[in-house]
Amino acid sequence: MTRLIVLLGFLLVLAVSAVADEPTEPTDPADMNGLTLFKTYCKTCHGVDAEAGEYSPLELIMDQWDEVFDAIDETHAEAVLETTDGKSVPAFLGGKLLDKIRKFCVDHAADSEEPMTCG
Ligand code: HEC
Repeated sequence: MTRLIVLLGFLLVLAVSAVADEPTEPTDPADMNGLTLFKTYCKTCHGVDAEAGEYSPLELIMDQWDEVFDAIDETHAEAVLETTDGKSVPAFLGGKLLDKIRKFCVDHAADSEEPMTCG
């Protein structure tokens, strides 16, 4: 009998951990488009009434965006974001993503064919 209870307990633990392990579907940044990346990595600090200034692609012209991104490693060297578990990580996950965001900003700059805010 004790064995059966132990066995049932063991199965219960297995079942619970199986449910807990269910993927929560973290969105892979590599799969995000420029708009989503901008919202995730820029709007966090540059949203409505942000202290660091409110920025959307149409806020600047193409040349200005190029200047911003040419210097972003320096201007944003201190930029960190808090993860949900309280760690500070560099705000940008590296070149590739930044290139996508840059393209999104330039493509939708004030003097582009499709000026755009991003909500
Ligand atoms: C962790 C916060 C943070 C994040 C994330 C962030 N910024 Fe900034 N940003 C700042 C701060 C702080 C300043 C400086 C504001 C000042 O000088 O008053 C700044 C300044 C700027 C400026 C003003 C011009 C300049 O170059 O200084 C632009 C444009 C800008 N950021 C764009 C972006 C873009 C695009 C992204 C996303 C790729 C981004 N920022 C992400 C904090 C952030």
